[in-house]
Amino acid sequence: MSGSIPWWQSGIIYQIYPRSFQDSNGDGVGDLPGILQRLDYVRNLGVDAVWISPIYPSPMHDFGYDVADYTGIHPLFGTMDDFDQVLKAAHARGLRVILDLVPNHTSDEHPWFLESRSSRDNPKRDWYFWRDPKPDGSLPNNWRGAFGGPAWTFDPLTGQYYLHQFDPHQPELNYRNPEVLAAMLDAMRFWLDKGVDGFRVDVITMMIKDAALRDNPPNPDWDGVNPADSLKPVYSRNQSEVHEIVRAMRQVLDQYPGNRVLIGETWVTGEYLQYYGDALDECHLPFNFDLIRAPWTAHAVRAAVEYYEAGVPEDGWPNYVLGNHDQPRVASRVGTAQARVAQMLLLTLRGTPTCYYGDEIGMENIPIPPEFVQDPPAVRQPEIADTVGRDPERTPMQWDASPNAGFTGAGVIPWLPLGADYATRNVALQERDSTSLLALFRALTRLRQVEPALSVGSYATVETGIANTYAYTRTKPGSDGFLVVLNFGNAAHGLDLSTVAHQAEIVLATDLQRYGVVYLAALDLMPNEGLVLRLVQ
Ligand code: NOJ
Repeated sequence: MSGSIPWWQSGIIYQIYPRSFQDSNGDGVGDLPGILQRLDYVRNLGVDAVWISPIYPSPMHDFGYDVADYTGIHPLFGTMDDFDQVLKAAHARGLRVILDLVPNHTSDEHPWFLESRSSRDNPKRDWYFWRDPKPDGSLPNNWRGAFGGPAWTFDPLTGQYYLHQFDPHQPELNYRNPEVLAAMLDAMRFWLDKGVDGFRVDVITMMIKDAALRDNPPNPDWDGVNPADSLKPVYSRNQSEVHEIVRAMRQVLDQYPGNRVLIGETWVTGEYLQYYGDALDECHLPFNFDLIRAPWTAHAVRAAVEYYEAGVPEDGWPNYVLGNHDQPRVASRVGTAQARVAQMLLLTLRGTPTCYYGDEIGMENIPIPPEFVQDPPAVRQPEIADTVGRDPERTPMQWDASPNAGFTGAGVIPWLPLGADYATRNVALQERDSTSLLALFRALTRLRQVEPALSVGSYATVETGIANTYAYTRTKPGSDGFLVVLNFGNAAHGLDLSTVAHQAEIVLATDLQRYGVVYLAALDLMPNEGLVLRLVQ
């Protein structure tokens, strides 16, 4: 990358799921004043930006990803004044604010949809996808909804079906109609005018569908579990014309000062590379979820990183994610012993890290008793709730050992159950423990902030010669270089990394207790240990 380095390249992003971060008014649901109360905590994490999942008015059929007004605030989260205060207070602390934009679909209660469905000749009819049944009476095509059932719902009011690839309450907008794009770009301008620092754009690859809405072919690799995966989404997403839409969004951001960022929710390995744009005129950061998908072995993680390093355009900038509100908690996926290695990996790779709230204290998937299940795909498909449900990774932040973990008042029933471990796994406890995961997280962010090689330097794999270990350097001319060594297993190893340097200084170990100069010809690596070493030439 040339020129001055934008904040979204050198910085770290922290995702807040607002329903679960901090409740300020005792209704059991997190809110904006709650986020305001916790901004100092966030700042002290050493992150540079918060991405807040949707806070717009919504009937909450998909917990805010069904937007009923793109330029409002849901009363559950507070008022526009509360939002302005969060923005101001964040900026005063040097924190950027990224909003979640959900342009692919609206709520079925959005006024646009209400108009559209009101009659076949309503001017907004074409803002959504309305289709007749096929001549034999069957559905307009074979697409499936991600949350179960077909992607079409019949509306008796006008005798046609409308398209929804998630919940039936989330009708999809038609971006082949230029009025729709213009309306969405206006919504973006509304927030950018307020000073918002960018957007994370929901399912950006789905915004354009095949012009003829052709049937998707069967997915030969389907494992038979989730019917939503039984077809290959050949015609329902990643159509070439979507790039025009992404470029239009980027152009809006580029009209504002201050390096506003466009992050796209891209999902498929390799496909995300297309969303930088041929002229780097689309997303600054198309999400890369490969570390979420990779089996947790040194071999698989290294392969994922090398694949990405080889593919990211020369002037594009990588990014990595270990967890979010749609994926099992990283600490549950990799296990407690590896949770520290995982954070060390995320925070030392070349690429903007996006961290999910609670992962900094190792929050785990929380089992949700059937009567408390909230997530629409799980509610709609109880037989596969354990596979498709996302409640376990959305439970309230565990702040302290008080009743309700400091998330909400004692006696209040939080919207999702708290983790049973909150008395022993919480922020307050880990703040007092200089060897906690939280302490490691902060030490890693601090190091990344002060060491240019770690934030913006280049990456090179180092051969370790030992199975299930992974090492790489991060270097930048004119700055100290670093060697990162990660043990993905529970066996100790002696490594010879003398090809990198004769000796190096451990500046951070995952146990936060190992420091000092070591000879790289005989580097002892403990089980499940990660080390960041300073290379002194
Ligand atoms: C992706 C979001 O991350 C997820 O939470 C949501 O359910 C779907 N898109 C639909 O908006």
